[in-house]
Amino acid sequence: MRIWHTTITLIALLITITGASAQAKEPQKGVGLYGDKWQPDPMHEYWDPENYHTPQKKLVEGNFTNIECIECHTGTTPGIVKDWQKSRHATPKKGGPVGCDSCHGSDHQTLIFPTPTTCGSCHKSQHNSFLDERRFGFPSHALAMERAVDAPHFVDKPKAEVLSCLQCHSVATKCDSCHTRHRFSAAEARRPEACITCHSGPPHPDDEAYFASAHGKLYLAQGESWDFSKPLTKGNYKAPTCAYCHMRNGKHQVADKSIHKFGIREVNPATGENRIKRKRWLAVCNDCHPTDKAQAWLKGLDQERQKAWEKLYKAERVLKDLRSDDLIYPSAQQRPDYPMDWIKKSWAKERIGFYEGQASALYNVSPLERDYFEMWYFDNLHAYKGAAHGAADMSKQGHKKMDKALQNINKRAQEIRKLHNQENKSGLTPADPSPIWLKGEYTRFNKDNN
Ligand code: HEC
Ligand code: HEC
Ligand code: HEC
Ligand code: HEC
Ligand code: HEC
Ligand code: HEC
Ligand code: HEC
Ligand code: HEC
Repeated sequence: MRIWHTTITLIALLITITGASAQAKEPQKGVGLYGDKWQPDPMHEYWDPENYHTPQKKLVEGNFTNIECIECHTGTTPGIVKDWQKSRHATPKKGGPVGCDSCHGSDHQTLIFPTPTTCGSCHKSQHNSFLDERRFGFPSHALAMERAVDAPHFVDKPKAEVLSCLQCHSVATKCDSCHTRHRFSAAEARRPEACITCHSGPPHPDDEAYFASAHGKLYLAQGESWDFSKPLTKGNYKAPTCAYCHMRNGKHQVADKSIHKFGIREVNPATGENRIKRKRWLAVCNDCHPTDKAQAWLKGLDQERQKAWEKLYKAERVLKDLRSDDLIYPSAQQRPDYPMDWIKKSWAKERIGFYEGQASALYNVSPLERDYFEMWYFDNLHAYKGAAHGAADMSKQGHKKMDKALQNINKRAQEIRKLHNQENKSGLTPADPSPIWLKGEYTRFNKDNN
């Protein structure tokens, strides 16, 4: 009886100890402005290895040479070994192979996952020009990770809705986005397919625009026969791919030419800095087109942008007028806001325009705010990316949709005002929607699961 009792106590103690140690390992903090408000998931150790990779202690023990790594990994991860064997790292022009241990270290208990700095120790020029992007501000590859984790909705929304953000925005924290592991092939990165895993879909339809352009059509028709082992310099390609234009001459820098940037904010293309950027663009086109033609095309883009902003400001005006007359329904006070942001919580404001509007992608807003959001974020960005990439019809369609959206917004605003007048006349007040919005099932789920 006594023996049993002691055994049970011991087992209980053991469970407590292992339980405690497992627990002590578990919650880790995120990084960024709101780092203490969210916890990383297992995938984050891949997407941002510098901050989240922890070596798996319990696996293989020992220090190994590259040959030993390869021998054992031919059994455990044969695909990785085959890819590496076909890569330039296995057979460089000069010096011995860049082995598994060169990137991961040789002690299996403290393996690292390489960061841009790891690659940069051998590839200084690529790493330096990548870091240089920071000078140009958002958006850029080098700043992509902080841009995503510092967005309030990244922290505020349930994990399931925001997990994918970092898969794309990890372009900042590792170098295997365009030349994938373990081939690390420059030829692969020169193709448009290397970019469109991330640069596609409604807010950034670069994929759609490129393949609708003369350049993309040529790639589709003849790309099979192009020699992608050649660098992205004048004379090597008949038509440009994404990297040819944005990373010409192999410069690891996508921000030094961007004038209209993401396209969600109005930009003056005639500033001193933007004139310099335009010259850089003309140099790219000039590899294949006469300068005056290229100049005219790029001027066409500026004009397209100006037209788009005229339409967007008209729509914004309608919404702002409704807001000042307190006619947005449900109003910002009647629906949930970022719970962690005390300023926005105390002074809730309808989501219109550059600083406020982006949240409409993920939050419950009034129907009119959502219409404006779609006009601004989807139709406008289609019009922009079409014009930027020489996909004329795509741009035209984007403008047609913007015209329709503006008409619709005007019409709905008039209806709202008419209804409001009728309510005033008859002494009715509209029902308070806040119980549904603030205490609905989805809202509760939201609050419990971020
Ligand atoms: C005796 C066999 C053996 C040797 C030698 C060996 N590994 Fe491994 N390695 C493994 C096994 C088994 C795993 C776990 C695979 C899994 O869980 O899918 C692993 C996992 C890894 C991982 C993934 C770690 C993670 O956190 O996911 C890396 C990277 C790695 N090995 C690199 C190396 C390098 C570099 C060397 C040489 C310095 C090496 N391995 C030598 C067997 C070996
Ligand atoms: C040029 C650098 C480099 C070399 C050389 C290299 N790796 Fe890797 N390896 C990486 C990168 C980068 C990752 C991805 C890390 C991440 O996603 O954060 C990776 C990931 C891994 C993983 C994790 C599993 C996965 O999903 O890919 C294993 C296992 C691995 N490497 C094994 C090896 C082995 C074995 C060799 C030698 C045959 C090797 N590596 C050589 C850079 C390298
Ligand atoms: C220990 C030094 C070293 C490290 C670390 C290293 N590389 Fe390399 N890399 C080389 C050498 C050497 C070559 C071959 C150059 C040659 O043959 O002229 C090469 C070639 C390349 C190429 C060109 C391949 C081609 O198809 O032409 C790419 C891309 C590349 N590395 C990417 C990376 C990335 C990404 C990382 C980090 C995950 C990395 N390298 C880490 C030394 C290194
Ligand atoms: C792993 C995902 C990923 C891949 C692959 C990728 N990008 Fe990006 N790219 C991004 C993200 C995310 C941003 C926005 C970063 C931010 O929010 O600051 C971006 C931004 C850009 C920008 C905008 C820079 C600016 O200043 O306006 C350009 C241009 C660009 N990428 C071109 C390319 C090209 C060309 C390729 C292929 C050679 C490519 N990207 C591959 C994720 C990716
Ligand atoms: C499919 C890949 C992908 C996913 C998923 C993704 N993004 Fe992005 N994001 C991009 C690209 C590409 C750009 C740059 C577009 C451009 O310049 O045209 C970008 C731009 C941005 C910007 C920059 C806006 C600016 O003005 O600088 C922010 C902020 C952002 N993303 C946050 C997020 C958040 C938060 C999530 C998750 C809810 C997310 N992204 C999911 C690819 C992605
Ligand atoms: C946005 C896509 C993209 C990302 C991210 C990227 N590369 Fe590249 N990389 C390319 C392209 C495209 C080429 C081919 C350039 C050319 O044709 O000259 C290339 C080529 C290379 C080469 C071979 C250069 C040569 O002359 O053979 C090296 C080395 C390299 N990259 C290293 C890196 C390192 C280090 C990082 C991370 C800091 C990185 N890359 C991130 C697209 C990318
Ligand atoms: C013929 C050259 C060319 C090709 C090919 C090309 N782009 Fe562009 N891209 C441009 C120009 C020009 C702009 C507008 C730049 C500006 O406003 O300064 C632009 C704008 C962009 C932007 C917005 C950020 C910026 O730099 O202003 C992104 C992101 C982008 N392109 C990605 C891609 C992707 C991904 C591909 C391939 C699917 C691609 N581009 C193919 C020339 C090109
Ligand atoms: C590597 C060569 C190359 C570069 C660089 C290049 N283009 Fe092109 N471009 C072509 C080819 C080839 C065609 C197809 C001509 C034809 O239809 O016969 C074309 C067609 C076009 C068209 C369609 C013209 C028409 O007649 O319908 C436009 C617009 C265009 N390019 C704009 C640009 C701009 C703007 C740039 C610079 C940002 C640029 N291109 C850079 C090779 C290039």
